[in-house]
Amino acid sequence: MQEPHDLHPELVERLIRAAEAARDNAHAPYSRYRVGAALVTTDGRVFSGCNVENASFGLSLCAERNAVAAAIAAGERQYTALVVITDSSPPEAPCGACRQVLVEFGDFHVLLVNAVGERHTTTVAELQPRPFRGDALRGP
Ligand code: THU
Repeated sequence: MQEPHDLHPELVERLIRAAEAARDNAHAPYSRYRVGAALVTTDGRVFSGCNVENASFGLSLCAERNAVAAAIAAGERQYTALVVITDSSPPEAPCGACRQVLVEFGDFHVLLVNAVGERHTTTVAELQPRPFRGDALRGP
């Protein structure tokens, strides 16, 4: 994996803009907590997602998993970085369910940002250090 400082600043800005644009489209009338996510593939394609809530609350979808779903539907499975934007200070991290979904696709950078410019850089492995792995399904 590249070092965080190897992520080109222009790429980071592009990802933040994509995540912001997605967050602007969030459907969050119940929590009013809007989340945007943008994922960049190893070949530079960007896929974004926002949270999509439902009147049946348990059906609500997280921004991060929607970004992964968009990338997977386009045939892209290798990622360099994910940006997540919220209004939280400090910037909020993905929920446990999203962490488990991210780990399915390896280790990559995760940048947590907010609208006032605070940034925190982490990785999928740091967020989910002891994941459930598909290997377990192959049996003992
Ligand atoms: N949410 C996300 O989009 N990502 C997370 O990692 C945690 C929570 C959304 C779901 C719901 O629409 C709102 O934030 C409040 O939980």
